[in-house]
Amino acid sequence: MKILVAYYSRTGYTETLAQRITDEFESRGHEVICEQIEVARQKSRWNLLLRQVYQYPLVALCLAFPSFRRWWLKRYIQPEDDLKPLAHPDVSQFDRVCIGGPKWCYISYPIARYLRLLKGLSNKKVSAFSTFAGPPFEVFEIELIFKPMGDRIRALGGTLIATLGLSSNYHELGILPIFQRVTPNVFKRSLESFHIDSEYGKAKIKEFCDDNEK
Ligand SMILES: Cc1cc2nc3c(=O)[nH]c(=O)nc-3n(C[C@H](O)[C@H](O)[C@H](O)COP(=O)(O)O)c2cc1C
Repeated sequence: MKILVAYYSRTGYTETLAQRITDEFESRGHEVICEQIEVARQKSRWNLLLRQVYQYPLVALCLAFPSFRRWWLKRYIQPEDDLKPLAHPDVSQFDRVCIGGPKWCYISYPIARYLRLLKGLSNKKVSAFSTFAGPPFEVFEIELIFKPMGDRIRALGGTLIATLGLSSNYHELGILPIFQRVTPNVFKRSLESFHIDSEYGKAKIKEFCDDNEK
């Protein structure tokens, strides 16, 4: 298969995951083309935070009330960033398209713009991957990024066939110790055990590639 792996990465962790996915696909004999999505202008971490922080009280409501979450995830205000021109703005020539970026509360701003610009997704099998600082909390990490990504992929005519979310064990805003403290209480294992290069990470990467081959 001819596979596009398109990713945005600000601090390098999602790029590492994109590379691991690419290596796995290539070891299975697939042709992989990578699209590194780049922003037109780099913003400071505080700029990124300020553009979403006012929505945090509603994120707390999302965690507490599933029906509110379903409603809110269709309506929240998703910031976007301008991108440099894409190498593959039309993906119709690919058999599979894998799209990845960091989790910034919801979708990262460059990926949100990418999912607005992308052409040729109609009837395409698409998968999504992400890195985040924390462990794979079903709602706070997984659902808050992959539900809105899936909705946008479906709106472009694609079908979301697989998702992969792994921990980078890194947070630019300095709140990693919270995740490190909470993870053993909730999951009975360390945050590091959910890292891209952990045994868990390696197994999940294989699973993701298996799902893409179906
Ligand atoms: C504005 C902002 C919001 C973030 N939100 C989350 C979050 O909701 N959950 C989380 O676990 N990590 C969050 N992170 C951390 C990143 O998702 C994490 O460090 C990611 O692995 C970075 O990927 P990159 O190196 O590819 O840029 C956030 C980081 C930034 C800058």
